[in-house]
Amino acid sequence: MKTHRIAVIPGDGIGKEVVPEGLRVLDAAARRFGLGLAYEHFDWSCETYRKTGRMMPADGLDRLREFDAIFLGAVGYPGVPDHVSLWGLLIPIRRRFEQYACVRPIRLYPGLDSPLRDPAGLDLVVIRENVEGEYSEIGGRLYQGSEGELAVQESVFTRRGVDRILRHAFDLARTRRRRVTSATKSNGIIHTMPYWDERFAAIAAEYPDVSTDQFHIDILTAHFVLRPGRFDVVVGSNLFGDILSDLGAAVAGTIGIAPSANINPERKHPSMFEPVHGSAPDIAGKGVANPIAQILSGAMMLEHLGHGDAARAIEQAVESALGDRRLHTPDMGGRATTAELGAAIAGAL
Ligand code: NAI
Ligand code: MG
Repeated sequence: MKTHRIAVIPGDGIGKEVVPEGLRVLDAAARRFGLGLAYEHFDWSCETYRKTGRMMPADGLDRLREFDAIFLGAVGYPGVPDHVSLWGLLIPIRRRFEQYACVRPIRLYPGLDSPLRDPAGLDLVVIRENVEGEYSEIGGRLYQGSEGELAVQESVFTRRGVDRILRHAFDLARTRRRRVTSATKSNGIIHTMPYWDERFAAIAAEYPDVSTDQFHIDILTAHFVLRPGRFDVVVGSNLFGDILSDLGAAVAGTIGIAPSANINPERKHPSMFEPVHGSAPDIAGKGVANPIAQILSGAMMLEHLGHGDAARAIEQAVESALGDRRLHTPDMGGRATTAELGAAIAGAL
């Protein structure tokens, strides 16, 4: 039996509450399917930043390199600016390990209410470009503090970066309902987005068996609310994919159930698995965060590590727990705690 080495980074806020539940369910899956999972815990977080001036040690990325996967909660806490916490940990991990494909599945679960009147058929995957686009440190500020102060931020869209994320989306669509929707904004953003559209058309031509359409991001958000069932795979830039994945999770019922995989498809480096949501300081410390996003991120990790059967068993355990309203956390309209729901899912396994 191969033992998979997993780096565990709970991070901040509810990350520290949902990661233990994620591990509890992974352990239950490991027992049932005879998997070897060896965890190493890292306390890298905003707390670490306040003590040391760094989110992670200078050699942090080198230490992560040897792992088979990274299991992360969330980072960010009031008192440390959000760009410091994200750019000090999460974004360097995604970039150094070329985790360019961010995969964010969203679907309806029986027993969980959507805020929509008609969410029928909602079952989609947002594919977010994860290492370039709008999230770039190219730019700067001038004349700070004066009347004439200004800020400039450049977006970066490379042929290599755009083509590979588009191909990832089309490849995935071939395993699903064979439909890819592109999120664009080529009416307003006149250089990068027409380029994105051009590459989308070029890559689509390589996949004649997959049907395509594209929408400007503004109306696409409206379609997510009004007709979510029409989408299969939705591919977008770093920013658009980020926005669509929170929106998609919300229309499915709560952001507390949405998992995410940051994949290095070439498997040259470890991939990272984390919920879509952040550290939720507004509910942190109360023990009421929904652990399902973290638990399903664990399922995506097992799938990536070659244990699709264990991943599906976790999804089934989540479904069976959601069928019992007494196990719903407050974001789902219930009164259960993080640990009660986590334990029930582990038990169902
Ligand atoms: P958030 O996702 O942390 O919270 C948004 C809202 O959703 C809050 O009302 C929160 O209580 C609720 N929520 C989130 N996850 C939940 C769960 N599992 N169960 C129940 N309710 C849940 O986003 P926000 O407030 O914009 O950011 C808070 C902090 O997290 C910031 O510092 C931000 O930079 C950071 N962040 C970190 C991310 C990461 O580590 N990947 C991603 C997004 C935000
Ligand atoms: Mg986000």
